[in-house]
Amino acid sequence: MTNWTAIDETVKQWIQEAGALIRDSFYHSLSIQSKSNPNDLVTNMDKETERFFISNIRTYYPDHFIIGEEGQGDFVQTLDGVVWIIDPIDGTMNFVHQQRNFAISIGIYENGIGRLGYIYDVVNDELYYARKGEGAWMNDVPLKKLKPVPVEESIVGISSTWLVNNRHFDQNKLIALAKKVRGTRSYGSAALELAYVASGRLSAYITMRNAPWDFAGGKIIVEEAGGVVSRLDGTELNMLKINPVFACAPGLHGQILEEYLK
Ligand code: IPD
Ligand code: CA
Ligand code: CA
Ligand code: CA
Repeated sequence: MTNWTAIDETVKQWIQEAGALIRDSFYHSLSIQSKSNPNDLVTNMDKETERFFISNIRTYYPDHFIIGEEGQGDFVQTLDGVVWIIDPIDGTMNFVHQQRNFAISIGIYENGIGRLGYIYDVVNDELYYARKGEGAWMNDVPLKKLKPVPVEESIVGISSTWLVNNRHFDQNKLIALAKKVRGTRSYGSAALELAYVASGRLSAYITMRNAPWDFAGGKIIVEEAGGVVSRLDGTELNMLKINPVFACAPGLHGQILEEYLK
């Protein structure tokens, strides 16, 4: 039997160590490169932080599998066994340009079921985490169970990609939603936006293209806080592929889905 309590304690220690290394990096120069396009940034700290987690996991949990954004983990094609899904720095553009609004994100899945989720806001020292069936916390304070929010009182995290024409979606529906809600926000870190849905700072987060490492930790935390995480059509996320993601307070999820997304 997997000892989830022991893993939980260990991951939290690793996250604190990794966070301290990232904060130290503010005092040194970064090596910054582009990946798929000039705005798709990666730094030495993204790679080093991923390596830090991978080498610890390989030492202490050698039979676990690892998916990491920077590709230093395993080539994972199924969620059989225990799989760690890691985004070493979610919000790299913010990390480079703002030194804030970025997070370490980790989700640990067992045969496809999310067991442990972590999102660490490194600069604000805010650790959001959840254990399947036990609840969600921020720095050891339990997150309040999310309550239904009326759409006109909701604050929705949504990115500017919605403003430009796209083949995935009828923008007019999103414009109607943006007019109806109390406010919209865009933080540039999917993981933090999910943590904010879990803690009620946002009522919803809607995005077109997220990779598993962007939402693996957040999905577990939002669900344990009583929220709902799905694709934009309400179906289940595929944990091994790019997905459009819709995370939301209960009640509001159904309403936005029916009236603005379908
Ligand atoms: C990105 C951020 C961003 C989201 C992108 C992600 P990264 O992650 O979460 O908010 O809009 O889709 O790729 O590359 O900074 O880890
Ligand atoms: Ca990236
Ligand atoms: Ca990411
Ligand atoms: Ca990343």
